[in-house]
Amino acid sequence: MRASSGIVPRLMNLVLLHNDDANALENDPGREAREDVERVALALAAALTTRGHRVRVLAAGANLTFLGALKSERPELVVNLCESLEGDARGEMLVPSLLELLGLPYTGSPALALGLALHKDRAKQILRGAGISTPGFAVVEQLADLAAVDLEFPLIVKPAREDASTGIDFESVVSDRAQLERAVVRVLTTLHQPALIEQYIAGREIYVPIFGNAPRRALPLTEIEYGPYYDERPRIVSYKAKWELESIECIQTNSGPALLDRELEERCIRTAFAAFDALGCRDYGRVDLRVTADGRPMVIDINPNCDLHPEAGYARTARNAGLGYAELAESLVQIALDRSRIGALNHEYPSHSTFGPGAALVAAESDAGVHAGRDQLRA
Ligand SMILES: Nc1ncnc2c1ncn2[C@@H]1O[C@H](COP(=O)(O)OP(=O)(O)O)[C@@H](O)[C@H]1O
Ligand SMILES: [Mg+2]
Repeated sequence: MRASSGIVPRLMNLVLLHNDDANALENDPGREAREDVERVALALAAALTTRGHRVRVLAAGANLTFLGALKSERPELVVNLCESLEGDARGEMLVPSLLELLGLPYTGSPALALGLALHKDRAKQILRGAGISTPGFAVVEQLADLAAVDLEFPLIVKPAREDASTGIDFESVVSDRAQLERAVVRVLTTLHQPALIEQYIAGREIYVPIFGNAPRRALPLTEIEYGPYYDERPRIVSYKAKWELESIECIQTNSGPALLDRELEERCIRTAFAAFDALGCRDYGRVDLRVTADGRPMVIDINPNCDLHPEAGYARTARNAGLGYAELAESLVQIALDRSRIGALNHEYPSHSTFGPGAALVAAESDAGVHAGRDQLRA
């Protein structure tokens, strides 16, 4: 498969931005996942360099020094890989807003979509409102709320503000009230965030990798395969299965091409695209589904900022579709550029017009004008 938008026509000045917070917390339950992002940035940088682009890899931290570097460098595009700031996944959504303040186009989803994907209860409310299937759920912010939860077992308890399987292990799957309470307490006290309690769907786990905006495409769907170790255990992709490569959990989970009949495949893709749209995601990402016994795909997770490591699922499935890593990297750049050009024509952020009613009084030369305009007003 070739990239829809073709090849970036000229050599560009790019910055790859990643979080640099694997050592920000003493006992970080998501450390391995955070470490991975810099490796992804380096791999993408190498790939884009082979295509002749001028590429700089930049770390983003809460001291915001990266903003100074971006301001002076003014890359033509930022490849935004940040998944957290200072060891907190909730920092992920701040980064696109800061890039917009600087007036810099960037790859991937905007702040609102990233924020919703990490507020899983809100995301599920939106899915429901849009008529998209997702397992029944409740959210618990304090233990006292648990008494009112009335869902049928088995259930899975997940942190409501994390991704990368952070906080998920076999004890997350519960089949009675005592186990449920233990799992909820663990999320509240060790991850310091609400617990999402969700109906456990025992069926097949299918991932839909999404690529591009106009047209939007699905790369080949993948399915998680669980080895015999899982015969007596919950079939879930736990944190260990995802990040501890030597663990039996990891060794006995594999992802391979999903062999689905055409109708089910189409249902999965339709459901995934609808979920991606409902949250306002764009450019690329992955929607995770579980299929019920009667063949209904249920959305369990929306990943607008999915792992782009060359050996992770997204790049592997792109490769199966004939899109090598360097070509994938360049396509993601092109997709973001095309989309941001169209966005500029449609007056996306900054939202003021460039002339006429609503125009900023003083347009900034380089930065997004709206804020400079306000400063001028105050003076
Ligand atoms: N409702 C569910 N039913 C069955 N398994 C689930 C459900 N929700 C999550 N899982 C399992 O837990 C894993 C991680 O959950 P997910 O919601 O994808 O969180 P994360 O955002 O951390 O990836 C999934 O890959 C899946 O194996
Ligand atoms: Mg997931």
